[in-house]
Amino acid sequence: MPARGHDIYYHQDFDEMNQDVLSAAGHATGLVATLLLTATVVLGAMHSGRASSASWPRFALHAVHRNMSLLALTFVLGHVVIATKAHSELAWLNAVLPYSSAPHPFWLGTGAVALDLMFAAIITSVLRVRIGLPSWRIVHVVAYASWPLALALGLGIGVADRRISWVLAVYIGCVVAVAAAITHRLLAADPDRDARRAAQAGQR
Ligand code: HEM
Ligand code: HEM
Repeated sequence: MPARGHDIYYHQDFDEMNQDVLSAAGHATGLVATLLLTATVVLGAMHSGRASSASWPRFALHAVHRNMSLLALTFVLGHVVIATKAHSELAWLNAVLPYSSAPHPFWLGTGAVALDLMFAAIITSVLRVRIGLPSWRIVHVVAYASWPLALALGLGIGVADRRISWVLAVYIGCVVAVAAAITHRLLAADPDRDARRAAQAGQR
């Protein structure tokens, strides 16, 4: 029955091709999500460091940071949809419940914590007026951790699957960008403070 045999090979080839496409899409969306999360954290740190210029007023930085975070979340969710399709043993719950997945429990667990922190930062930002500034700030500073955790997942899975190559150069670029933004944020610990002190001195 040559026709039947041919069909079986055709299905096997198609399944393998499908798996390769899903796997490639998983890596691509993961990498784009990493870049978008890096940009979100860099913009957030610059915003807290009161960075501004004539072409980049603070309100623009705020809007780009907010929209970038939503784009990053969208890509992570798309990445999770693809990951659950590519790996039948993965379910949605594994993406939000840390250390619950069967394949790579440790690395995917760090990804789940990163996703939870992103959700927390966005939800508390929407509810900022209700929950108050101090609580919002605590959640937001903790959201920094989403970035190294997400980077650890990419590195961990990449090394586990022996696929680390030029991707490493991208990660190094991300580390340099975040380190520079945090340095700027720490050096400009509270640039408004000098203005406040000058105003108070003027009132005396
Ligand atoms: C903050 C969010 C996340 C980021 C930035 C991220 C990023 C990445 C990156 C860069 C890779 C490719 C690694 C490589 O092969 O070099 C990857 C792979 C992967 N990620 Fe994520 N990830 C995130 C969250 C998650 C979550 C929550 C899950 C849980 C379901 C997940 C599941 C996977 C899987 C299964 C792979 C391997 C893809 C494959 O081999 O087919 N990721 N991720
Ligand atoms: C994935 C989600 C998000 C992440 C990972 C994130 C991360 C960050 C980080 C790391 C900072 C610097 C914090 C500091 O050094 O004190 C920051 C600042 C900030 N973020 Fe976000 N953010 C996210 C979403 C949002 C959203 C949705 C908003 C909504 C408007 C927002 C508004 C702000 C504001 C206003 C600041 C500056 C705070 C200040 O004046 O000191 N963020 N963000």
